[in-house]
Order: sequence, then C-alpha cells, then structure tokens
Amino acid sequence: MTDTGRHEPPLRLTRADLDALPNYVPGRSPADLARELGLPEAIKLASNEVPYGPLPGVVEAVAEAVAGSHRYPDMGVVALRQALAERHGVHPDRIATGCGSVALAEHLVRATCLPGDELLYSWRSFEAYPIIAATSGATSVRVPNDAGHGHDLDAMAAAVTDRTRMVLVCNPNNPTGTAVRKAELDRFLDAVGEDVLVVIDEAYREFVTDAEVPDGLTYLDRPNVVVLRTLSKAWGLAGLRIGFLVAAPEVAAAVRKVVTPFSTSMAAQAGALAALAQADEVQRRCALVVAERDRVTEALRKFVPDVPASQANFVWLPLGDRAVGFGKACEARGVIVRPFPGDGVRVTIGTPAENDAFLAAAESALA
Ligand SMILES: Cc1ncc(COP(=O)(O)O)c(C=O)c1O
Repeated sequence: MTDTGRHEPPLRLTRADLDALPNYVPGRSPADLARELGLPEAIKLASNEVPYGPLPGVVEAVAEAVAGSHRYPDMGVVALRQALAERHGVHPDRIATGCGSVALAEHLVRATCLPGDELLYSWRSFEAYPIIAATSGATSVRVPNDAGHGHDLDAMAAAVTDRTRMVLVCNPNNPTGTAVRKAELDRFLDAVGEDVLVVIDEAYREFVTDAEVPDGLTYLDRPNVVVLRTLSKAWGLAGLRIGFLVAAPEVAAAVRKVVTPFSTSMAAQAGALAALAQADEVQRRCALVVAERDRVTEALRKFVPDVPASQANFVWLPLGDRAVGFGKACEARGVIVRPFPGDGVRVTIGTPAENDAFLAAAESALA
C-alpha cells in the first residue's frame, strides 16, 4: 500500500490563514478529458496559450542550451536583457526577468509591501493577484469591475490610502478581456501619488488592436510605473516560464535582489532569445488570433449579447450562475474552457477548427 503521508488529525505546521486562500486553478488536462470521453483528443481553451506551437528555431535553441544543463544559467541574464532592451528602446538596467511574469508580480510585492501594506487591484482580475497578496502578508484591496466588466480607474484612485504601496492594472484584463484607454490611465496616474508603484500587467499586449489602449512602456518617464510582460502567450513559451518587467532602474534592481536565484533557466533564456528573433511570425500569429477573436465574439453575442469586446486572446461570457453548467456542457463535447463559479466563463481563442468546435458546443449549451 502507498503511504499517503497524511495525518489524522491533520498536522498544523503551516500558516492557518492559507486555508482560506483559493488555489490557483490550472486548465484541465486535455489528455484526461479525452480518455474520459473516449475521444482521440480534447481541445483546451482554458489557459490563454497561442495554439500554433513553439516559434521556429526555439526548440533547437533550447536543445542546444540544455546540453550545458549541469551548469547554472547566467544569473545576470545579460544577453536576454540586452535583447529585450534593444527591442523596447530602454537601458538593460531597467529590465528584470523572472520565472513567468507571475513570479515578477510576486517579487514586486515582496519588494514594496510589508505586512499590512495594501495591494490594490480591480476584481475580477487575474486570479494570482489575491494569492500573491496573501502569501506576501499584504492586504488585498479589491475595487469591483465596472458594469462593462473593466477596471473602474476613478474608483481605484479613490481607494488609494496612505497604506497603499502597489496597484495592479491588468491591461487587457484577465479574464474579461477589457482594456483601459489612455485618457483614463493618464487621469489615474495623475491622481495616484508618485510614491505608489503602479504595475501595468500587459501579459496580452500583443493582441491589442484598439489604438486608444496605450502601450505601458510609453509611461516609463514616470518612475513609479512598472510594465510587466510575458513570453508565455504571443511568444509561445508558456512551458519555459519566462517573463520580464521594465521599470525605473532602482525598482528593477530591487526586484533582481529579491528574485529566487537562477530562476530564469538557461532553457528559458535561450528559448526567449530565439523567440525574439521571430517578431514577424509573432505578429502574423497574433493577427490570426485577433481575427478569430472578433469572429467568436460576434457569434457568441447571438446568445449572450453582453459579451464584452476583448483586446486579448480570450473572450468572456458573463453567465453568472450558469458559468459552471456551461463549462460542464463544453467539456461533455470535448472542449475545456475556464468557468469562474457564479461569475462567467473565459474561453481562449484557438485555431479556427478549435473555435468552431467550441462555438458548436456553446450553441448547444446556450440556444
Ligand atoms: C494578466 C496575467 N498576468 C500574468 C500572467 C502570468 O503569465 P506567466 O507567468 O506565464 O508569464 C498571466 C497568465 O495567465 C496573466 O493572465
């Protein structure tokens, strides 16, 4: 018999407050669902990945790099930071890399908040934010999304107190796909004191088509602005775990100080360098995703008229109490989506065939 390692009564060796914390929910395994349904394969539209595989040259670059995997990677991430700096027209001192941008968000909280300090964000937003706040000892302050499912930046500015150390602006917002525009972001930044770090999380920046949605990097003349980017989505490196931030050099240096040593692996560094050489292909893929996003949105609005316009590579169905049932109905037809109980369902844009399979499942669930 396998020793489960469990104790009765359960041991209390870790923080009691973690019991109340929701787990981060990864998308369900398509292999498991396919097995359960007796299908050759299932479709996963639950984790906001781009469906077109690794970019050309990435697999080879990673294979070459891991031939030296008995050595530690370059802790300074010099070549990659240099390449990112050139791409974005900033000094490498402004850049820090991490094990996904989610790790960088955590490092930023670690670098700014002491227990009891406030971390402010809109809600519903990226599900990692409350977990990051709680594990860092910071107090989460959540401002409800507006009626259009987006950030209410005026309400967020009004919620800043003298305990607020950091604000997260998720632009476009995961999971609703909405994006804040320049005029409202300008007004927000003017209202928030320069001693509060404003982190613009741009994990989905490459999918933005609305010219009024500003590139966070244009705000770097404000020393309290940090831009978070990831190579997991448009750049196809979700499995290698690599993200970066651009900030004032002092802020980037503080993050590099608190980062887990060597957490940007040599595979991630090599894969990212190879991916960055494929910017044209990334643009081509993003255009495919955007065209499909707009097609899927239009099709869904026949059944759910208030699907918000998305600026990301996913769409949001505000189904409220029907969210979980809708998710189950899609799974029964071999399509994994991401329900948020009582609130809505996020659906990642896949290939045209995958999207057709999803739309057929959605139609049978909603019609
Ligand atoms: C808004 C947002 N930020 C950050 C991330 C984290 O991306 P990664 O850690 O893969 O770089 C995600 C991933 O889903 C996201 O949706």
